[in-house]
Amino acid sequence: MIPVAKPDMGDQEFAQIKEALDTGWIGLGPKVDKFESKFSGQFGYGHVIATNSGTSALDLSIKASDLSGSEILVPPLTWVSTAFVCWYNNYEIGWVDVEPETLNMSPDALQKRITDDTAAVIPVHYGGQPAEIESIVEIAHDHDAVVIEDCAHAVGTTFQDKSIGTIGDIGCFSFQATKPLTTGEGGALVTDDDDIASQAKL
Ligand SMILES: Cc1ncc(COP(=O)(O)O)c(C=O)c1O
Repeated sequence: MIPVAKPDMGDQEFAQIKEALDTGWIGLGPKVDKFESKFSGQFGYGHVIATNSGTSALDLSIKASDLSGSEILVPPLTWVSTAFVCWYNNYEIGWVDVEPETLNMSPDALQKRITDDTAAVIPVHYGGQPAEIESIVEIAHDHDAVVIEDCAHAVGTTFQDKSIGTIGDIGCFSFQATKPLTTGEGGALVTDDDDIASQAKL
């Protein structure tokens, strides 16, 4: 069998797990605070809010944003969470096709599909390759739509020297077992917007 992604865990990780168990903080606690602050420092995110999954981060990003409109646009090539969070937050799902070369949302297709009823756009940085995020943000903001970057595959990815997740309004990461950086299960919402951060924290 060829594993999709075999986790690389060693003595350092075991020592950290033991330390957490020994302190008794096995849910939210000082290690989560430290993780948030290191993640923020390393990649330049204003606010980092750790979650129990990437799906939760996407869900929170919709709930914490002041959205107006009835549909959210997503690419059809992604994990189901990108679309499911729109559906269970009672938004229509609108599909925007991807570029054949990169498998990322096509800005041209977005330009044709977006309307004034679009509340948000969720591009995915597929397989760690950055989407054309600046063009996507420009088109979305022209229509007052919030941009939530699905960064689940793309810890450490940059677009023109900027960390992905900082160009749109919100970035959402997954630290699930097969992701480039894993906590077993887990995720994070990142944003520079104080209001969104405080709503998400709440
Ligand atoms: C593109 C994409 N978005 C969101 C998610 C959801 O992340 P999680 O599994 O941590 O809920 C995944 C996970 O597989 C993903 O690949």
